[in-house]
Amino acid sequence: MDTLSWFLDELAHAGSEHLDPGYVPGYDHKAGTDPADDLAVLRDLGLNETHTLVDLGAGTGTFALAAAPLCHRLIAVDISPVMLARLREKAAQAGIENIECVQRGFLSYEHQGAPADFVYSRHALHHLPDFWKVVALARVAGMLKVGGIFYLRDLVFSFEPDRAEHIIETWLGAAPERAEQGWTRAALETHPREEQSTFSWLPDAMIEHAGFAIQNVNHGASRVHSAYTCIKA
Ligand SMILES: C[S@@+](CC[C@H](N)C(=O)[O-])C[C@H]1O[C@@H](n2cnc3c(N)ncnc32)[C@H](O)[C@@H]1O
Repeated sequence: MDTLSWFLDELAHAGSEHLDPGYVPGYDHKAGTDPADDLAVLRDLGLNETHTLVDLGAGTGTFALAAAPLCHRLIAVDISPVMLARLREKAAQAGIENIECVQRGFLSYEHQGAPADFVYSRHALHHLPDFWKVVALARVAGMLKVGGIFYLRDLVFSFEPDRAEHIIETWLGAAPERAEQGWTRAALETHPREEQSTFSWLPDAMIEHAGFAIQNVNHGASRVHSAYTCIKA
């Protein structure tokens, strides 16, 4: 399908900063991500050392590197060669050997081997327009075993449209002032302006339509971040 002339160019939609060798080395510091809560969720859902986990949009691998020791096979997929190069460097430094890095995307990764037990994705699906999100979600279902888990975190707007100004302004108002402290207001405001996050009732329907039962959804207090636990039906 990805040879079709109308197929989405995933690299062109990856976010130019994720392709920027000047930006990527500072990504982990800026993101300040602690993977502990997500790992605890996946362990509660049964993740163990016999399992295959695919991390889609793995970035520099903060989650993937923490999850690899807990499973048999970890496949870190990202469309950005720059993010993946950093992930590989960190894996080598940490001596983690059960990570396979694959430079592909939601729409182009071809899973090989036994179906995945878990698919994880954090803050990456919003790069795709809605049509392609659904194609991506159906592909995620296709790589999982029946009963397998898809744990999805992303920026999702869980409020009514007439609350948009208040909620987005509140979120932006909480951003740090200096870039060394994280994403500033100027950086965050590109998200609603330029990226493909949407209202929560749309991803809810997309996920179910793609072949999942939503076991749990947690729309965070900010109403701009959500976490979905989805079971492949
Ligand atoms: C905001 S970063 C998140 C990285 C990581 N998951 C995290 O939580 O730190 C978004 C990542 O999605 C990747 N990405 C963008 N579009 C993608 C696509 N179509 N398929 C796979 N990865 C993609 C980017 O290259 C980038 O590494």
